Amino acid sequence: MQIIDILKAGPVMPVLRIEKLEDAVPLASALVEGGINVLEITLRTPIALEAIQLIAEEVEDAVVGVGTVLNSDDLKRAADAGAVFAVSPGLTDALAQTAAGEHAFLPLLPGVSTSSELMRACDAGFSHFKFFPADAAGGRAMLKSLYGPFADCVFCPTGGVTVETAPDYLALPNVACVGGTWLAPADAIADKDWAHIRSLAQVAAGLTPR
Ligand code: 3PG
Repeated sequence: MQIIDILKAGPVMPVLRIEKLEDAVPLASALVEGGINVLEITLRTPIALEAIQLIAEEVEDAVVGVGTVLNSDDLKRAADAGAVFAVSPGLTDALAQTAAGEHAFLPLLPGVSTSSELMRACDAGFSHFKFFPADAAGGRAMLKSLYGPFADCVFCPTGGVTVETAPDYLALPNVACVGGTWLAPADAIADKDWAHIRSLAQVAAGLTPR
């Protein structure tokens, strides 16, 4: 799968933090049942790679990606675990080289938040980006401004995006989808309230541009 297919698969990409391995499959299943297939599992907990592997093996229809990729090792380890795409909060020269090179391991959605970062990432061969941290880095106004000089760049704004603000982001011509943690709140995961997460996913899957 190419990054553009990942971004076009649905209006919202959930950003998941999985603390307990036992929650991985029921959480992913609830999201998929709610209509959200593309899942970003962040490398923010010690069991993240195991969770990626388990979901990739056991949850049919889940498209499993890895998030919070900070370096080339993260990319390689996630590919080995079964992730099919990667997301990073920013981009370093080393990561760009690995991700764009012959042994790319995984298609990467790199994070950017300024014009210069965008220019450097475009030079490295990327055209699709996570705009992070979206809300703190200027939100919709910033994306509208970036559309002028960088009309060919496509974004997935993430960071401070909510179910309320997502439709406004989705209405922008340079936004393919948004990302967020709100579909899988920590308290709902702790309570194993999969029905609630399924219903949040249903709402997210039905979001349209405003
Ligand atoms: C990310 O890494 O994309 C952010 O942690 C998203 O967080 P938020 O949706 O809770 O703002």
